[in-house]
Amino acid sequence: MPVRLLTLSHPADTLKQVVLAGLSARPKCIPPKYFYDSEGSRLFEAICTQPEYYLTRAEAALLQAEAQAIARSIGPVACMIEPGAGCCAKARFLLGPLQVAAYWPVDISGETLVQAAGRLAADHPALEVVAVQLDFTAAAGFAPLLPQLPARGRRLVYYPGSSIGNAGPDEAVALLRQFRVLAGKDGGLLIGFDLKKDAARLHAAYNDAAGVTAAFNLNLLARLNRELGADFRLEGFAHQAFYNAEAGRIEMHLISRARQQVTVAGTRVEFAAGESLHTENSYKYTPQEFEALAARAGFAFRDGWQDGAGLFAVHFYG
Ligand code: AVJ
Repeated sequence: MPVRLLTLSHPADTLKQVVLAGLSARPKCIPPKYFYDSEGSRLFEAICTQPEYYLTRAEAALLQAEAQAIARSIGPVACMIEPGAGCCAKARFLLGPLQVAAYWPVDISGETLVQAAGRLAADHPALEVVAVQLDFTAAAGFAPLLPQLPARGRRLVYYPGSSIGNAGPDEAVALLRQFRVLAGKDGGLLIGFDLKKDAARLHAAYNDAAGVTAAFNLNLLARLNRELGADFRLEGFAHQAFYNAEAGRIEMHLISRARQQVTVAGTRVEFAAGESLHTENSYKYTPQEFEALAARAGFAFRDGWQDGAGLFAVHFYG
């Protein structure tokens, strides 16, 4: 079946507005979704193959080993919706074993999505594929998508990759509530999240020896130079990533190595020596903590799986 493209645009926050607001906040911060320009996406793919970054491999091993059991637990679905699907690689684990009529990947980047969805559709000729171009992190969220969804049959929201880790607990609940609406009363949610573990292990995953995570973090400044005509000197900032045990999250920062001034979109921004620009949080949960979060969004735990080493978890909620 040919891939259908659904472009659902609505006024999105511009990079300039968000960055200037974040640079005038105290502490300074920029949301992690802006890491992913084409260079950032390439660097993220490279992070996923670093020996210290266990998340991607652990989740893939889990999905590979448990796909049949997961499919049994979920049962037949009319429509699988994958927010932030990107290159649609993670859907492939399920599309064989799962009884599913339609796959609706959702991503902000329509071009990548249509190409990936096209390859996937070619490999699954009986599957209906609808590629949805939508920035669901904008204020309207999934509202533009809801009236487009098939009215009949059970829906499954698939959110792998510990993407939920970028959201703080309250934001995560808000996103999960949107998933609840997307899935509908009799639908479900299959979600992957990173487990709490030894701090040294976590620290290493975000401080790889090859420096790929550091390059990923610093690329944010390079992107602002490219797209907003900013004049960040990348040598003037240091990558910092550490586990904040109290908050249960990895924090990534860019630390100003000296007192300096930067111009961003015509606005002057001062950095004190040692001042941080907070670029990412990556929350880690115990299975019980995650269940409690999902419950706040109206999801009931049905089944859960972990990889052999107990690093990563996938839960199914109804
Ligand atoms: C894509 C949000 C799951 O938090 O581990 C990887 C992003 N940042 N290394 C994560 C990331 C630094 C990643 N997520």
